[in-house]
Amino acid sequence: MKFLKVLYLLVGLAIIFAIVGCGAAPAAAPAEEKPAAEAPANAKKEYKDLTVCYPQLGAESDWRTANSASLKETAKELGVNLVFSDAQQKQENQISAMRACIQQGVDVIALPPVVEDGWDAVLTEAKDANIPVIIVDRSVSADPSLYAAHIGSDMVLEGKKAGEEMNKLLPEGGKIVELSGTTGSGAAVGRAKGFRETLAKNIEILDSQTGNFTTAEGKPVMEAFLKKYAGEIDGAFIHNDNMAIGAVEAMKAAGLKPGDIKIVSVDGTRGGFQLMIDGWVQADVECNPLLGPQVMEMALALANGEPVERETLTKETVYFPDQAAELLPSRQY
Ligand code: AHR
Repeated sequence: MKFLKVLYLLVGLAIIFAIVGCGAAPAAAPAEEKPAAEAPANAKKEYKDLTVCYPQLGAESDWRTANSASLKETAKELGVNLVFSDAQQKQENQISAMRACIQQGVDVIALPPVVEDGWDAVLTEAKDANIPVIIVDRSVSADPSLYAAHIGSDMVLEGKKAGEEMNKLLPEGGKIVELSGTTGSGAAVGRAKGFRETLAKNIEILDSQTGNFTTAEGKPVMEAFLKKYAGEIDGAFIHNDNMAIGAVEAMKAAGLKPGDIKIVSVDGTRGGFQLMIDGWVQADVECNPLLGPQVMEMALALANGEPVERETLTKETVYFPDQAAELLPSRQY
């Protein structure tokens, strides 16, 4: 009997221990150490993470001022860090600015090249540093494998449109002069080419000189033409509105009246619109400088290793005097 009592006691104690053991809260496991939240190595960059270098070629025209403003405003809106410089129309300054950006390790370089040739070395340096380059506005002659893409105008097409307008303005033919843009620039080369491809056979180009896309240099070029070809000039193809402003100053000083020389200009700036309203310019071929949004969008894609279009051409039109007064107030540049 005594043995059974001891046995019952032991079994009871075992049951109690089992029940208590099961109901007990499990001992708290030591807190697992979580790594600090950090972006995975392949995380997508956002605009705020992006540094874009824009070695602007200069401030030679109202077009250029609007182009710089577009890049700066877009960068500010999106939170992009923009490394901006002004090369004062000197290729060596643009190359130095690019080298500084490569040294700094920017994400993307967007280059508006002042001239077409002479970029191979610095583009190779950017490529070796794994920094993609977008050629903006004008073109380069370098091997396309050295840069990622081009965003800008079709300068040859602009020249063709200018030629078509000159043909309409001088249906009986005539003699004209050309005020060209910066020598060796994609804009000047392309416009001159397209213009000649379209110009009617009965229109003779008497002379062609550069006014370097500025009002200050355009004026003396037209002064010289007016002296050299006095009474002979029927028309002028002027590669941008700022040179047209200078040319018109020279024409006024020489006693000419609006329409005495038919002018086809390029850009479609407010200055060009005013010249159309005043009767001096008969057609203005648009060249759109507002490239900031497209450049930043492509820069982000490139920084994230995404594929981009190799060639993005801006859609552009031709403006005429009969629309100028109505459109001028809403022109953005
Ligand atoms: O490359 C674009 C040209 O450069 C514009 O037509 C001119 O105004 C500017 O200076």
